[in-house]
Amino acid sequence: MTGKIAVVGSNMVDLITYVNRMPAPGETLEAPSFSLGCGGKGANQAVAAAKLGADVLMVTRIGDDIFADNTLHNFDALGMNTKHVIKVPGMSSGVAPIFVEKSGENSILIVKGANEALTPAEVDKAADDLKQCDLIVMQLEVPLETIYHTIAFGAKHGIPTLLNPAPAQPDLDVSRITDVTYLVPNETELELLTGMTVSDEISAEKAARSLMEKGIKTVIVTLGSKGALLVTNDGKKHFEPVSVTPKDTTGAGDAFIGAFARYFTESKDLDFSLGQASRYAADSITRPGTQKSYATAEEFKVFCERL
Ligand code: RIB
Ligand code: NA
Repeated sequence: MTGKIAVVGSNMVDLITYVNRMPAPGETLEAPSFSLGCGGKGANQAVAAAKLGADVLMVTRIGDDIFADNTLHNFDALGMNTKHVIKVPGMSSGVAPIFVEKSGENSILIVKGANEALTPAEVDKAADDLKQCDLIVMQLEVPLETIYHTIAFGAKHGIPTLLNPAPAQPDLDVSRITDVTYLVPNETELELLTGMTVSDEISAEKAARSLMEKGIKTVIVTLGSKGALLVTNDGKKHFEPVSVTPKDTTGAGDAFIGAFARYFTESKDLDFSLGQASRYAADSITRPGTQKSYATAEEFKVFCERL
């Protein structure tokens, strides 16, 4: 049976412009194409897990505009539990203007909108449902107090929590996230969390261990084209990158986390789940868009068989 996953996090509308190059200040430039789609780190991770067949509860705030209806409809169409997806009157939805260059590399601006209204009190309203979950997944596109509160909630009720500290947030107080079960930063986020330089596997392990000394149990560092690194008290393991031709890397980290959550809550096998997560993220970068590029369980099976 697939596990029950809750995401306490953001949703955004992604406005993706594919560019030949970025315009200079004062310059107007023509770009070849544009794609509108559902995004936001929280929603992306939830959608990846749902597309792979997990039972997903989304705790999020949507705005009071046409984008909001579209986001809610998207969650419903994927069979997610949307009981705690609530409209905030008078606020706009989160939006993310994104620029993707020919290499597949992206630059993202986020305007959080209604995501700022996801307060600790809103998490408490979902408490009964959150207590039924096998894992609570979070990111940093909602207020930090809500993250601290949710980690404490998970610790109090014995529910494992996963924090993806993205986007990198200088204000994050590490001493208030030490009860998290799984911390999943990328290199930049890990540097900001530790003040240490992270450039390869060795420096990533060292930085991860410094966080574990503070109490965090398991650190999974995503290294982009260099794969991923799992660091636990028992040791470490490197996961080789899956080599594909990148089209659009937007949301690949979210695909990784959603897939990890989906497979780990079912199998409780870190190695297997991180392998699946690496493959799922790689597949997503071969297609344009964020959630649009995430494979269903069937499509993912085909991708894995071809590797
Ligand atoms: O991680 C990618 C996501 O970051 C995009 O979908 C965008 O909405 C921003 O939240
Ligand atoms: Na993609």
